[in-house]
Amino acid sequence: MKNALVTGGTSGIGKATVAGLAAGDYQVVFQASDKEKADKVKREVILSTGNKNIDYILADFTSKREVRTCAETFKKNYPKLDILINNADVCLPERRITADGLEESFQINHLSHFILTNLLLDELKKSDDPRIINVSSAAHAAGRFDPDNLQGEKGYSPFRAYADTKLINIMFTLELAERLKDSGISVNALHPGVVSTNFAHEFGGVFKILYKLGKPFMITPEKGSVTSLYLASSDHVKYVSGKYFAKCKTVRLKNQYLTEENRKVLWQKSLELADMVS
Ligand SMILES: NC(=O)c1ccc[n+]([C@@H]2O[C@H](COP(=O)([O-])OP(=O)(O)OC[C@H]3O[C@@H](n4cnc5c(N)ncnc54)[C@H](OP(=O)(O)O)[C@@H]3O)[C@@H](O)[C@H]2O)c1
Repeated sequence: MKNALVTGGTSGIGKATVAGLAAGDYQVVFQASDKEKADKVKREVILSTGNKNIDYILADFTSKREVRTCAETFKKNYPKLDILINNADVCLPERRITADGLEESFQINHLSHFILTNLLLDELKKSDDPRIINVSSAAHAAGRFDPDNLQGEKGYSPFRAYADTKLINIMFTLELAERLKDSGISVNALHPGVVSTNFAHEFGGVFKILYKLGKPFMITPEKGSVTSLYLASSDHVKYVSGKYFAKCKTVRLKNQYLTEENRKVLWQKSLELADMVS
């Protein structure tokens, strides 16, 4: 049986991805920050799919320590990792600094996944078809990479910060794919579509009204999980790595900040912020 780990499995696309993998007979572990929500999702998925091999690991991704414990817990309890889906995210109405001293959306959307992924590489290497899937967004196109403003220290705007982290998801994907090119581990990123979820739920005012008006035109979380599930399971992408997908097809990346030099800068900065410099 294949093992999958999905971050942000308690809501929206992550929850639908957990259910989709469970229906496909995977052993599914999801990361969750809230025990009550996690228990509910676990119960629902077992009931709807009949697959009892569903579990969760509690970890708040605003804490580097909790992310490390999440990786350790996974290693202790499972013999290998076949599929890692980095899906959890936030889009916040204001700049917030975590107890680790980092801007919250940068830490959750990128740095925690950077740490988790790097700590689980040895487990992925034990699989005969290991895959890493990073859930990004078409919003990455509006993102900019400024290594001196990764924490919004020079100026912060909520949607700019979100777009920047989604661009960083793709930069991380491309750089990791390059670093893992001889390892057999594939790494791809995706845009799930415009999906009716809990996304940006902390926003009020005009955004809340616009979001409500737009909801009927958005796709369901189940439809939003299709590309994640395709990248996790299809033989067509078994040897594909370093690509960006939407609707199960590769899409050409155009953002001017996606240079090799920027990717290397991001990698080094991430190592430093993750306390992973040896
Ligand atoms: N919805 C869209 O239209 C859309 C479009 C493009 C890309 N995406 C991408 O799709 C992915 C999933 O988004 P979604 O729309 O399904 O969002 P969502 O419904 O808000 O789900 C986000 C998940 O992240 C988790 N999370 C938030 N803060 C966390 C923390 N501090 N520690 C650990 N986990 C935390 C949430 O857990 P809690 O439930 O406990 O808060 C939840 O499970 C994201 O990467 C997003 O950027 C979404």
